Amino acid sequence: MTPRIVVTRKLADPAMALLRDAGDVWLPDPDRTLTTAELHAAVAGAHAVVSTLQDRVDAALVDAAGPQLKVVSTVAVGYDNIDVPALRERGVVVTHTPGVLTDATADLAFGLLLSVTRRLGEGERLIRARRPWQFDLGFLLGTGLQGKTLGVVGLGAIGTAMARRARAFGMDIVYTGRPGTRRSDAERELDARLVTLDELLRISDVVSLHCPLTPQTRHLIDADALAAMKPTAFLINTTRGPVVDEAALVDALARGVIAGAGLDVFENEPEVHPGLLELDNAALAPHLGSATTETRTAMAMLAARNAVAVLRGDEPPTPVRS
Ligand code: GLV
Repeated sequence: MTPRIVVTRKLADPAMALLRDAGDVWLPDPDRTLTTAELHAAVAGAHAVVSTLQDRVDAALVDAAGPQLKVVSTVAVGYDNIDVPALRERGVVVTHTPGVLTDATADLAFGLLLSVTRRLGEGERLIRARRPWQFDLGFLLGTGLQGKTLGVVGLGAIGTAMARRARAFGMDIVYTGRPGTRRSDAERELDARLVTLDELLRISDVVSLHCPLTPQTRHLIDADALAAMKPTAFLINTTRGPVVDEAALVDALARGVIAGAGLDVFENEPEVHPGLLELDNAALAPHLGSATTETRTAMAMLAARNAVAVLRGDEPPTPVRS
């Protein structure tokens, strides 16, 4: 029987072609995220679902799909939108796309860091508002990075790639992570030092978040954590919005508790806290971490390969293991 493959968002052409070779592909609506009801209706009878981080994937989705469902392949590295234990219990394999988006995401994180420390957004807004300006030795002064300390929360692949970029800019690296996750290789390569979260917040000039969103990391950066940071420090978040208490961040940025923030992700995406929109010391991007043509194509290809492997009874290249 030809497998039915439901794709919730249009993928790069080569990935769509790979899936079409493996089964009947159904793309309900290429242009928008489906509501939960639409998603459940769309997956009925599916053997594979290729989804994105906007789709809630849980027991109800598996029930809506039916017992023939074999695999949910998400086109993302993060899978906090997927109830992995519920799917595993029902015999459904979950796969994701680590590795191929590491550099693109670290590039974006570093771009946000440069943007907020060098006040690029402020400068651009000033020019576009046609406000008068001239070169001046004291005009729009930012903050240099050389000799400063980057604190990486979660020294996985993307955190390590961010730290490499920071080393190239002359920064020192400290990191923290889940208990027992010492990264000796990265420590040697980057001269990085493992510290507690408390120490990291206290000594870092830039805190960059690269941990996954889990019950333990939800609001990891709350009002207390922000108060523990230096008033001259910057916060960068390219992981998931709810790792930061966004209302507390707005308050901290407005009151000068920290110097600035670079954010690619938001607590209630695509909504952005209105307070952030008023703040010049927040550099904002609409979840663009992996958004290059090359990276999105590689992610789509990996997601397609994962789905096809499971449909054929093979081990997928990058299953979710946790
Ligand atoms: C993007 O946020 C991803 O998890 O791939």
